[in-house]
Amino acid sequence: MNNIPANEAKISAQAVAAFASTPNPRLRQVVQGLVRHLHAFASEVELTEEEWLEGIRFLTDTGRMCDGAVRQEFILLSDVIGLSMLVDAINHRATETATETTVFGPFYIAGMPERSHGENMAFTPGDQALVVGRVLDAGGEPIANAVLDVWQTAENGMYSGQDPEQPPTNLRGRYRTDATGHFAIRTIMPVSYPIPTDGPVGRLLQASDRHPWRPAHLHFMVMAPGHRTLVTHLFNHDDPYLDSDVVFGVKDSLKVVYQPCQANHALASVHDINGTFRLASYDFVLERETP
Ligand code: BEZ
Ligand code: FE
Repeated sequence: MNNIPANEAKISAQAVAAFASTPNPRLRQVVQGLVRHLHAFASEVELTEEEWLEGIRFLTDTGRMCDGAVRQEFILLSDVIGLSMLVDAINHRATETATETTVFGPFYIAGMPERSHGENMAFTPGDQALVVGRVLDAGGEPIANAVLDVWQTAENGMYSGQDPEQPPTNLRGRYRTDATGHFAIRTIMPVSYPIPTDGPVGRLLQASDRHPWRPAHLHFMVMAPGHRTLVTHLFNHDDPYLDSDVVFGVKDSLKVVYQPCQANHALASVHDINGTFRLASYDFVLERETP
């Protein structure tokens, strides 16, 4: 709708102006922008009273679905409408060299065990995998003692914490780079999985004829003193959902190939791996922290 009737435009202008004296200038900018855009949205779609009430019910249900621990339906909502990736893009405008970021997701758990170089973080079955690489600074120099906090789902597509059958530390852990900046993570092959659909976000996806799947990935939070913390994933390069990730998180630079390796591969003996496995290699590049 192009021409907003004068009485409606007046309500919108009054609501924006009501926040004009907000002492914190950033809060003023954010709240006034939010009110202005929400009013413009309601005018554009000519929101009915029933739709307004349905929206209130939807947001109320979304809040009720949050448990303060593992389930965060509001983050899920932000993710499926692309807002999380937009905020990520605004806050990580491309640098020449640093590894690209992607969505954090709601399933990170802090305080997971420190794991040694090459330690296996999988306590549930799956196809054996080894992920190796380095953490580098923007100049290409290796960073020793960087921390890589890693998490992924089990083969059933669920994270520990979501799934009471899994040990709490399953497929989670904090690895460190060695003196030459190298890391090695023993795990199982990541699988594609659906995000939770038993709440209002699932209803929204269904009503919109959208699938709930994320392509197979491994989550990383990479930290080193003096550097900006990197939150990203590595995606299996051949996953069928790469082009339709329900949360819009895929970037080409984050796709990795897991090469099939025989049991006699040199790294099998280094890391005590029995049988065949898959090997992925990736170097993460951290930006310098801006003061
Ligand atoms: C995840 O990858 O863990 C995730 C990200 C966004 C929404 C749901 C799950
Ligand atoms: Fe995930």
